[in-house]
Amino acid sequence: MVDIKNLYLSLVGGAGLVNILRGVDLAVSDGETISILGPSGAGKTTLLMALSGLERPTSGSVRVAGIELTGLDEDGLARFRRAHIGIVFQSFHLVPSMTAQENVALPLEFAGVENAYSLAMTALEETGLGARLKHFPGELSGGEQQRVALARAFVARPSLLLADEPTGNLDRETGRMVMDLLFDMQREHGTTLVLVTHDEALASRCHRSVYMLDGQLREQAGAVA
Ligand SMILES: Nc1ncnc2c1ncn2[C@@H]1O[C@H](COP(=O)(O)OP(=O)(O)OP(=O)(O)O)[C@@H](O)[C@H]1O
Ligand SMILES: [Mg+2]
Repeated sequence: MVDIKNLYLSLVGGAGLVNILRGVDLAVSDGETISILGPSGAGKTTLLMALSGLERPTSGSVRVAGIELTGLDEDGLARFRRAHIGIVFQSFHLVPSMTAQENVALPLEFAGVENAYSLAMTALEETGLGARLKHFPGELSGGEQQRVALARAFVARPSLLLADEPTGNLDRETGRMVMDLLFDMQREHGTTLVLVTHDEALASRCHRSVYMLDGQLREQAGAVA
């Protein structure tokens, strides 16, 4: 599902050039779940951005679902994302002026799907929010907002789900409930999952963990030393 080879990614910020990813190799099989651990600033979010085509590599190769992302233009990348990628963030990134149902329907509408609203309703029912369709994000608890974000991420049946500290803004109990739901949906749909987290217990629920440090990956086993 994922095949990253010798990925370098540098960005020019206010303070000059920053070499964020420095020779990353990563292969993830279809249906596999993998967690990425590592300290703040290591480059974890940037790696997810490269996987979703939201940041362009400086060099190297990023293949997702058999598609070489470095060969796509902006339209091609947008089409690729709609067809293959679901994303869940730490802060839920819902549109505040849209109801739960409208938020979930949004990616389907972008993709030109006709019954977007009924599919969104089904997806929200799947996350236990069938009674909250018409609520705005501000009228939902943190855990409920993240469940809306999960429904939105899964609604178009992505082959690859990218999750960036999805429980970082939730208390422990709510976070566990959200992750139970995420793994349930992942299993049910056979979705490949790349999960960035600081939580080792959460990471251990994945098939495999890797550790990122200074823009490079290593297998978790040798990382703690
Ligand atoms: N647009 C940018 N321009 C320049 N530098 C950037 C840019 N975005 C991120 N960086 C730098 O790249 C490094 C990696 O950032 P990234 O967000 O990928 O880290 P992270 O591992 O996700 O950290 P955290 O655990 O805190 O979320 C950081 O040092 C950050 O300051
Ligand atoms: Mg991050």
